[in-house]
Order: sequence, then structure tokens, then C-alpha cells
Amino acid sequence: MGKYDDGDVLILAIETSCDETAASVVRNGRKVLSNVIYTQIALHTRYGGVVPEIASRKHIEKINQVIEEALDQADVSLSDVTAVAVTCGPGLVGALLVGVAEAKAISFAAGLPLVGVHHISGHISANYIEYPELEPPFVCLVASGGHSHLVVVKDYGVYEIIGRTRDDAAGEAFDKVARAIGLGYPGGPKIDSISKEGNPDAVPFPRAKVGESEYDFSFSGLKSAVLNYLNSCQMKGEDYSQADVAASFQKAVVDVLVEHSLHAVKEFGYDRFAIAGGVASNSALREAFERECRKRKIAFYCPSPLLCTDNAAMIGAAGYYQYIRGACSSYDLNAEPNMKL
Ligand code: KG4
Ligand code: ZN
Repeated sequence: MGKYDDGDVLILAIETSCDETAASVVRNGRKVLSNVIYTQIALHTRYGGVVPEIASRKHIEKINQVIEEALDQADVSLSDVTAVAVTCGPGLVGALLVGVAEAKAISFAAGLPLVGVHHISGHISANYIEYPELEPPFVCLVASGGHSHLVVVKDYGVYEIIGRTRDDAAGEAFDKVARAIGLGYPGGPKIDSISKEGNPDAVPFPRAKVGESEYDFSFSGLKSAVLNYLNSCQMKGEDYSQADVAASFQKAVVDVLVEHSLHAVKEFGYDRFAIAGGVASNSALREAFERECRKRKIAFYCPSPLLCTDNAAMIGAAGYYQYIRGACSSYDLNAEPNMKL
């Protein structure tokens, strides 16, 4: 008998949609046997953001090593693996293509099924890893560098988008404001940590309402308000406090995300709420949701910060549920930079 039960499904998952080269082995969608992430952040920092061409080249350089490490750490070989899952969109096209080509090659060479996974489906599925008892349906806020979606998770891999951003994603706003106040890239984690020393009520930034749609978000007005505030300080020759601006901006984002999300949970009649995506690792956001969900008797789920930012384990979890319902891909699987959920 092998190391794993015949009934066990082992997914080798690959994620290269942006600036992390990641591979993971996940058992039965919930148990992470390895989760290897090579982050390119240091390479892109000097440019103030991700440079797509550099990202793709680095993925090519690192991908084999990262996959080998994932198999080694899980103590399995390709013959133990059931299927290969890979992020096929959305993301940077050149970066996605590296993962997709690699997954196809492994799938073909080892005779394993190929499963193309939507990156956001992956982010949402990080919750299944953190909470082995969690099952759909529930409401999930996905807030990342490219997306801010409020989603009803009706079943595994079955999503209804009930709200989205009309302009910038939440993470994008964090990154732009961080750059404006001189914190640099990556903005989210830097604003998160400096905010701990600032006063969140120092500057009354606006909480945006979006017309008739109560579940949509807009962050570009807030970003402009921050830029205007910085400009007016400069014109008056006044200094501003980085920590106060960061904390006040962060509070404005958190207030809007919490209010819209929990309003949706109530209106749609659910009692379970999860968060996902890079911004979900924000400490103030997690605390606010924890507090407000407790008050409103909503069960709150938030993956550990490492599972919120980009990783391949989440792709392994989403890939597992696709695999068991037969949603596998053929070899014409392509990278889809603007793939819809
Ligand atoms: O999900 P993710 O790793 O990649 C995308 O799919 O986009 O999200 C990256 C985004 C970036 O905008 C980053 O600034 C933001 O998540 N982020 C954070 C924090 N950590 C990462 N935003 C706020 N607070 C954080 N601690
Ligand atoms: Zn992501």
C-alpha cells in the first residue's frame, strides 16, 4: 500500500499570476502538505510596482525549483499526485503563461489530469484550508490588488457576484496611497504597520457611497482625497504625519468594506461570512470584522495572512473541488488575463 489511501486526492498546484512563484501539494482540498512561495517583491521594489516582463522571466527561472521543493516538502513524488492544478487567470498574461505551460508539461509527461483554476476562486478557497469544517453557502469579501468583490459562495466553485469595485481595487488604493506618502512598494503591509502608530481619526477622509448599488465599492475618490490633503499641506508649507494619514486612510477603507459586506450578509440572509485576498491580511480589517461579526452573531472566517496573499495552496483547494466534479481542462488551456469569475 502507498503512503496515501487510494481514495486520497493529491493536487499539485501552481500559481504564477503576479509576482509570487508558488507551488503546493494539497490533500483532499483541505490539508496542506507543502506550500512553497518564492516572492519577487525585492526585485520589483526599486521600480515601485510589479514589472510584468521581470515577473515572467523570474517565474521561468524559479518554477522548476519551487515545484521540486513542494514535492520534497510534502514527501511525495509525481506518481503519488492525482492531478495538476494551475491558475489560468486573471493576472499578468506573461506570468500566467509560465505556470500554465509548466502545468501542461507536467500533466502530459506524468499522465495526470490538468485543472485550470480561477485565481479568485483560489483566494476564496483558502478558507477551506483554514477551516476544515466550512462548507458553502456563505458570503465572501475578496479584496486583493486587482479585485474587490462581494461574492455569495453558493456551492464549491459556484459564485454569484453581488458587489464589485467601480474603479480601483482596495489593494490598489493601499498601494497608491503608500506611494503618495512615501512608503513605497508593497503598500498594503507598510500602511498596515505604520498605522499602528497613527491616529485613525486624525483626517476625516470620505466614506464613498456608490449611487444606487449598495454593495458596490469605489476607492478612487478616497485616493484623490488623500492626494488633495497632501497637496494642501504642501501648499501651506505644513508637515503631515505619515502615520496619521495612513491610519485615517486605512480606517476609511475598513469602514466601507465592513459596512457594505455585513449589510449584504444580512440582506441576503446568511449567517456566515469569510474574507479572502491580500487585503484580508490587514490587521485592522480583521479586527473590525471580528468585532462587528461577533456583535451581529455572524460566524466569521479569515484565513491566516500567509493564505490570504498569493500562494498555491489555495489553488490546490479550489482545484480539488473542480477535479472531484470533473471540471478538468484540456491541453488547449490558455492564460486568460481578464478571466471572469
Ligand atoms: O491577493 P494578492 O496577494 O494579489 C492579488 O491577487 O492582487 O493581493 C495583493 C494586494 C496588494 O495590493 C497589497 O498591497 C495588498 O494586497 N496587501 C495588503 C496587506 N498585505 C497585502 N493590504 C493591506 N494590508 C495588508 N497587510
Ligand atoms: Zn491574488
